[in-house]
Amino acid sequence: MTGTRWHLISVLVFIRELQPHNTGPLASVLRSLGVEAMLSSSALSLGFLSLATLAKAGTVTYNWDVTWVWAKPDGYGRPVIGINGQWPCPSIEATVGDTVIVNLNNKLNNQTTGLHFHGISQKGTEEMDGPAGVVQCPVPPGSSFKYQFVVDAPGTYWYHSHNMGQYPDGLRGPLIVQDPNDPYKGKYDEEVVLSVSDWYHLQSLDLMRGMLSPTNTRFAPPFPDNITVNEGLGSRVNFTKGKTYRIRMINFSALASAMIHFDSHTMSVIMNDASYIKKEDAYMLRIAPAQRYDFLISAIDRDKRNYPFLISLDYNRDYTNSTLGVRWPLNYTGYLVMDQTQPLNKVDVVNKWKPIDDSHFKNNDGSGILGPYNQLIKLDFKFCLDKNGYPRACFNNLTYIDQKVPTLYSAATTGNSNTNPTIYGQVNPFILKSGGIVQIVVNNYDEALHPFHLHGHNFQVLDRPKSGTGPWPGRDTNYANTPPERDTVTVNGNSYVVIRFKADNPGVWLFHCHIEWHVEMGLTATMIEGPDTLQSLTFPDDHINACKAGGTPYQGNAAGNTNNYTDTAGFITVPPTNYNGAMYLPSSSKRSRAGPLLVF
Ligand code: C2O
Repeated sequence: MTGTRWHLISVLVFIRELQPHNTGPLASVLRSLGVEAMLSSSALSLGFLSLATLAKAGTVTYNWDVTWVWAKPDGYGRPVIGINGQWPCPSIEATVGDTVIVNLNNKLNNQTTGLHFHGISQKGTEEMDGPAGVVQCPVPPGSSFKYQFVVDAPGTYWYHSHNMGQYPDGLRGPLIVQDPNDPYKGKYDEEVVLSVSDWYHLQSLDLMRGMLSPTNTRFAPPFPDNITVNEGLGSRVNFTKGKTYRIRMINFSALASAMIHFDSHTMSVIMNDASYIKKEDAYMLRIAPAQRYDFLISAIDRDKRNYPFLISLDYNRDYTNSTLGVRWPLNYTGYLVMDQTQPLNKVDVVNKWKPIDDSHFKNNDGSGILGPYNQLIKLDFKFCLDKNGYPRACFNNLTYIDQKVPTLYSAATTGNSNTNPTIYGQVNPFILKSGGIVQIVVNNYDEALHPFHLHGHNFQVLDRPKSGTGPWPGRDTNYANTPPERDTVTVNGNSYVVIRFKADNPGVWLFHCHIEWHVEMGLTATMIEGPDTLQSLTFPDDHINACKAGGTPYQGNAAGNTNNYTDTAGFITVPPTNYNGAMYLPSSSKRSRAGPLLVF
């Protein structure tokens, strides 16, 4: 399946290079002919690589109906959210400099939706970033919404719903940006997308209603029922001996990290998230939710064995701490198939997971540490209870609470007052001055590991000490010289992480734990970057129409007050006790608890 997906990808890109605006009819004709099998020779792959080098910036357009689909990725049938009646969702494929357009139609009937393009900088298109309640209103059923942005940097990304816990229901897929100046060009023969995820038999809404209850005194997240690889369980990576493959690995999980190890093969890691690193050999990798690794694997050609690889889902509190009773119940064995006539019967046994420390990777261009910093944002993360005794997650004792007006719309419609964090309500707002260097420190007071993601930026990872180190000592010492840059970093249990970036991208950018269940518990802060630039921002009609259709105000402070921006009346200060997730409640029935149920 993976092999098939790669060939299909190469065919689609190949077509686009010949006919830059055609991603539609020709591609689907070829697909219906099963052309991925016909065109599976490496000659074509190499042809595609050299054509990509010559390619001019083009436009890739996707017309997507978001629809419910019945699927059984692990044998258990359930409704999932797919695209154009299909699931798994398709890949977005582009080349650096291309404009990507996604015309989205919400055909879900009973849920709102939206898309975020994880890791894409959205420079100059901050209104296209996707999170509902932040840079747009959720798109109601029956509405359309156009995303348009330029992909300005190469690498492995992904897209997912960023609307009230929706992506674990399946609305997610790879987003691959090819690099015409790939430093590894010619060093690999083919590429393979390998996604991994935790998988749940219940829908997110039910899982979250269970989690967000006063009886959940241990702040437990939902636990997955299974592991999926390339959104299923049948994946076989067909390797040819002697060839080198570029694996683009993505973790779509809502909770679990993934560990990976290949029998007898080393992974040469070349990118973390979508940033090149100085090539580093690894035997084991730990890929947290939302993270990506690109690595090269050279298939051994001295024998005819089929080599297994193991992916284990890590949803332990802290796998390095054996006193916590670490277990690995969800495992997946795949194979590097060198010889179809030989059996697939070996398993890859890993006695103890010891992944490489990714915080010690080095950036590829030798960039030094940014600094000194102009702004320090210290975020103490602890679980917390709200006024009603519901479990939440807090930064500096405050949980993120969705407001009436999306934060970017407030920033764009409140004039000079948009530099006053008060007007945004309890979205944990921080105002960042354009051009400044910002240091964020997260102190993790929980004993588990958590992956933190920043929208709109790659950040440098300056320090990520081991579990149990305690909070940041307040001094900046011993930082590595050429730090890795990425968009999602894991902080260890009872420890801290220090990251830095330059505020060179005006917009409203979330910083949050990428465990989706913790997003819904409120583990989010909001960076309001370059507010002076945001004052003049205007929005496409379809964006404003999504608000109108949902009865949501789109001007003024957090409560929609367009006269007195610092008047906090109407701000939402306690999270609602009736969790509705992305469920669509027409504004007249907003107060009713039970919404329409899904009917097939
Ligand atoms: Cu992958 Cu806030 O997102």
